[in-house]
Formats: sequence, structure tokens, C-alpha cells
Amino acid sequence: MRIEPVIRTQNLTRRFDGVTAVDGLNLEVYPGEIFGLVGPDGAGKTTTLRMLCSLLDPTEGTATVAGHDVVQESQQVKDSIGYMAQRFGLYLDLTVQENMDFYGDLFGIVGSERVALTGKLLRMTRMEPFTSRRAGQLSGGMKQKLALMCTLLHRPQILFLDEPTNGVDPVSRRDFWAILYQLLKDGITILMATAYLDEAERCNRVGLIHRGKLIRCDAPDALMRSADASDLEEVFVRTIREAEARGA
Ligand SMILES: Nc1ncnc2c1ncn2[C@@H]1O[C@H](COP(=O)(O)OP(=O)(O)OP(=O)(O)O)[C@@H](O)[C@H]1O
Ligand SMILES: [Mg+2]
Repeated sequence: MRIEPVIRTQNLTRRFDGVTAVDGLNLEVYPGEIFGLVGPDGAGKTTTLRMLCSLLDPTEGTATVAGHDVVQESQQVKDSIGYMAQRFGLYLDLTVQENMDFYGDLFGIVGSERVALTGKLLRMTRMEPFTSRRAGQLSGGMKQKLALMCTLLHRPQILFLDEPTNGVDPVSRRDFWAILYQLLKDGITILMATAYLDEAERCNRVGLIHRGKLIRCDAPDALMRSADASDLEEVFVRTIREAEARGA
């Protein structure tokens, strides 16, 4: 039986007057995978995620998410996903619990369902002791955990994370990854943009994006083997140099 991808892009392209931010992207992500989109600043990662979340229309090409076209069926796409933006909107004056209540209201999660889900998320992230702390007083890692919990209150089938551990210390990053593995076990598919190559190595598959183009896409092991490299950093530095030498 052929497994259908839950995310598929065909020639996905986005131009902003003069700049081609995403250039002919062909990508497939399968159910239950964690896929890492890696690339330097300005490579087009956020623009790609925003199109896949139906927040920005492509200039050319198409994409389907959870079987729905991101332009024609944007509401169904939005209903199926969770999107943790690069600068996720937490209310810093509100407590952890109040932020979660706000997003619970926004997503229509109420009553006993809300109590059960917030309880589960707080346990999973080990944030129970901090429910009455204001978001503005949380550490960087805890802020990101709170943003993730708020995103998960939407009960997404597919989770889009834009550099979720940026600026977070290594120990908190490990905690964050433990949560992601738990989510994968629960059957959620994850597409994350990251600038950390050690983090990319933990993904099932990785796409390297450079100047809007996907220039490599494979499992981390396969990428390293084919480039005879000992880590992804070596693969990526070399691949980007080659692409630049070709004028890509
Ligand atoms: N709304 C916009 N208007 C004009 N140009 C834009 C807009 N959004 C993005 N761009 C440009 O598109 C390119 C890709 O930007 P994007 O934010 O997708 O990159 P990124 O890979 O997420 O970078 P970073 O790692 O810095 O977050 C950049 O050149 C950026 O300046
Ligand atoms: Mg970005």
C-alpha cells in the first residue's frame, strides 16, 4: 500500500517584489515523520511555513496539507495544523495558565476537555509548578514550552515549528526534544525549521534550503554518507559552497 504524504508541495514559489523567497520547492512529508527544514538566514524557511499554514498565498505552484489545498481549502488546512511562529504571540503580562486559557478560548476548547488537555500538556512539559508565573518572567526555554502548549491546544494533526529552540540553552533544548518525540509517538507529524544542525540530525529527514531552493533532501545518515562527511554541518557547508560556486 502506498502511503500518501501529509504535506506535498509542487513547484511552490513565492516572490516579494524582486526577491524570490521560495523558488520551485518540491517536497513531501509523510505521516508520523519529523522533517527538518534547514538553511541560513533568509533562505526561505519562514515563507515556506507560512504558505503551508495558509497564511500567505504562493505566487506559483501548489501545496496540500492534510489532503487540502492551501489556497482553495485554507480553512480545512488551518483546522488540521498547529503553527508555532518564529515570534509566537505570548501575552507576557498574563500567567502561564491565563495564556493557555486565552488560546483555549481562541480554539474553542472548553470545559472538561480543556481541563484534561491543559493538565496533560502541563505534565508532559513539566510546567505544572509554573502555572501562576507570568510569561514575561519565564526563562527562554520555558517560554518556548508555553508557546508549544498553546499551539497544541489546537489538537493539531500536523505541527509546524519555526526555529522553536532558537536561543534556548542545550539542556532545555533536550527537554523540548523529549516532548517532540512524545508527540511523534502520539501520531503527530512535525515540520520544523531550524538553524541548528545537531538538531537537524535528530529529524527523520532533512531538507536543506538555500536562496529559496531545496538543494538536498534525505535522511541525515544518507546525506552524510553521500558526502563522505562526519556530520551534517560538513555536508551543508560544502553543499552551500558548491551551490554558490554554480551561481545558484
Ligand atoms: N513580507 C515580505 N516582504 C518582502 N520580503 C520578504 C517578506 N518576507 C520575507 N521576505 C524575504 O524573503 C526571503 C526569505 O525570508 P524568510 O523569512 O522566509 O527566511 P528564513 O529562512 O525564515 O530566515 P531566518 O532564518 O532569518 O528566519 C528574505 O530575503 C526576506 O527578506
Ligand atoms: Mg525565519
